[in-house]
Amino acid sequence: MTQHPMLSGDRFRLGTFSSNCSSGMTPTKVPERWNNSWDNNLALAQMLDAAGIDFMLPIARWIGYGGETDFHGGVLETMTWAAGLLAATKNIAVFATIHTAANHPTVVAKQLATIDQIGHGRAGLNIVAGWNKPEYEALGLTLPDDHESRYAYAQEWFDLVRKLWSSDQHFDWNGTYFKAKAVKGDPAPVRGSVPIINAAGSPQGREFATDNADFLFTPAIDLERSKVEIAELKAQAAAKGRNVGVLTFAHVICRPTEKEAQDWLHYTAVENADTVAVDNLVRLQFAHAHSFPHDLLAQIKHLFAMGHGGFPLVGTPDQVADGILKLHATGFAGTTLSFVDYLAEFPYFRDEVLPRLSRAGIR
Ligand SMILES: Cc1cc2nc3c(=O)[nH]c(=O)nc-3n(C[C@H](O)[C@H](O)[C@H](O)COP(=O)(O)O)c2cc1C
Repeated sequence: MTQHPMLSGDRFRLGTFSSNCSSGMTPTKVPERWNNSWDNNLALAQMLDAAGIDFMLPIARWIGYGGETDFHGGVLETMTWAAGLLAATKNIAVFATIHTAANHPTVVAKQLATIDQIGHGRAGLNIVAGWNKPEYEALGLTLPDDHESRYAYAQEWFDLVRKLWSSDQHFDWNGTYFKAKAVKGDPAPVRGSVPIINAAGSPQGREFATDNADFLFTPAIDLERSKVEIAELKAQAAAKGRNVGVLTFAHVICRPTEKEAQDWLHYTAVENADTVAVDNLVRLQFAHAHSFPHDLLAQIKHLFAMGHGGFPLVGTPDQVADGILKLHATGFAGTTLSFVDYLAEFPYFRDEVLPRLSRAGIR
């Protein structure tokens, strides 16, 4: 059987991120902000699929960040979103994003196996161990303050998912967090498993990611730091006999001239930033998660207004392609892309930037 599209070949991976969420990755008030309707997601998926983009990654979010727009207040649920998109596309990988504490592993194991059949082996799973405290409270869940408990829970959760996928027998499970009697998971995913993504930043989370994930996401803020970070993560995985690709996320503003790109940046992320939402987003990220380097907070606040902290790919097609080549040279295995309006802006990126990346030999 051929390999999963996310795992085959060595091209620099490109995906989109957060198209299932209202306003995508940009907490802005402009009327052009992303409308995350199903119809828009479907049209986008088919456009990306035809353009040879590798994957789509959704954000699982249960309450918004407030502000005038209630950034991420409207969210398409990721498992059902992925099921629909996999049915309507041919080659692109589609991930579901799952909070371990909010989703029973036996249910998730079967959901993933089902959507992987729908897509003929193109589904993937992004595992979130929890960080957003108000959201846990909204669900009536308790987020443990310590990362040890969060990732111990996630590990047992994933061990049970894997056992359900690999065992053809009924089995009992007597763990710390889960009990099961004569349980069985049938069917398994098409190839027995699916690519796993995780975005941990803490030491405990990175143990989890290097133990379990195929791809680890980390922000690209300072590429010199990223180089060291990627080397460390690769070494950590290699010591366990594993290979982990390190991915990042980027926000694209690509225009014929640099001035047009900068004007759009200013219009969306400065003049019309939903500042209350930006403040809430940054505050929560730094209160409960270790993804972003805490010493760089002041420097990166504007990146949250632009693209949720994503790497800025702002400028002409040459400049945007150059930024992607820099990410590649840093050692990243790929990046997600976001746009203020994915449907309106992706075609220019497709027509102008993708050929430049092919000529540069990274795709
Ligand atoms: C690419 C990417 C995708 C993410 N997706 C989600 C998501 O869908 N839902 C969510 O609550 N958090 C999501 N997060 C946030 C991470 O799960 C969170 O920052 C991480 O748990 C923090 O690391 P730590 O647990 O080691 O502190 C994502 C982060 C990144 C970088």
